Amino acid sequence: MKVAVLGAAGGIGQALALLLKLQLPAGSELSLYDIAPVTPGVAVDISHIPTAVKVEGFAGEDPTPALKGADVVLISAGVARKPGMDRSDLFNINAGIVRNLIEKVAVTCPKACIGIITNPVNTTVAIAAEVLKKAGVYDKRKLFGVTTLDVVRSETFVAELKGLNVYRTTVPVIGGHSGVTILPLLSQVPYAEWKEEEIEPLTKRIQNAGTEVVNAKAGGGSATLSMAQAAARFANAVVRGLQGETVIECSYVEGDGKYARFFAQPIRFGKEGVEEILPIGKLSAFEQQALDAMLPTLRADIELGEKFVNP
Ligand SMILES: NC(=O)c1ccc[n+]([C@@H]2O[C@H](COP(=O)([O-])OP(=O)(O)OC[C@H]3O[C@@H](n4cnc5c(N)ncnc54)[C@H](O)[C@@H]3O)[C@@H](O)[C@H]2O)c1
Repeated sequence: MKVAVLGAAGGIGQALALLLKLQLPAGSELSLYDIAPVTPGVAVDISHIPTAVKVEGFAGEDPTPALKGADVVLISAGVARKPGMDRSDLFNINAGIVRNLIEKVAVTCPKACIGIITNPVNTTVAIAAEVLKKAGVYDKRKLFGVTTLDVVRSETFVAELKGLNVYRTTVPVIGGHSGVTILPLLSQVPYAEWKEEEIEPLTKRIQNAGTEVVNAKAGGGSATLSMAQAAARFANAVVRGLQGETVIECSYVEGDGKYARFFAQPIRFGKEGVEEILPIGKLSAFEQQALDAMLPTLRADIELGEKFVNP
């Protein structure tokens, strides 16, 4: 199994590379790419850790050498938020970066499962889909927006508030990955009893948790370490699925279009990527209202990506 990380010298990329070196199954290969010249050095550094995962690093303008034979490609290349910015402010720079990288993926490893971390995820995933489609290699079972950080945050905050065992707390998060499009389904958390007045503030905290980190880092970037853990969890789910295990995680994928062309919900991973898109289940009245209210935003974010590739 070969996993490529594009953007591997960045805050997320380096931490993600470290976690993958520690967590990927024995015999895996890890391929690190970034335009930053330090990237081969990051690979040498990580390669000194004694696990049975082989690491290579590539820098420069062309990701092709890093992508050769990749089964999974994780993309965190791009710029991150500073205080006062929201994820859509990143569009102008990151849209072009994702388009260019996906064009190379389409040629070099068209059958790879692709996880997009680069924001705005609601839009960059649509860009990736359209680029792959244009190249004639789009397989919707193999393209994912990585929304695992919303799940990770929800699990942490819910367990803290409700005094639950954080290792056993599960929270499905549906919709997209920005502001109101992030919808944690608190009503579905096992063993959690909710007071009416807890739901809205906690939902908002989860939706704005990225901004909590951006502000706390005071201009030094956005979430990198928790994001790396979330991306490693996502990557491990994809890899284990490809190896024939049954794994369920939420991810932003193209489904039946009931709510929007791309929608985050629980996914069963398998040998071809998405094995099954699982139902979102029964929603509370609050969640149903939040779902209805987010859809115009989510659909507009998706359309922005589609139009970027097909003006
Ligand atoms: N999906 C999520 O939940 C989530 C969470 C946090 C951050 N993000 C996003 O992840 C992205 C990366 O964040 P970060 O904190 O690691 O930023 P960073 O600035 O630390 O790292 C980005 C890296 O991308 C590299 N890069 C830029 N253009 C490139 C290209 N064309 N090819 C290859 N590499 C390129 C840079 O050299 C840099 O090393 C941002 O877009 C951020 O908004 C997503």
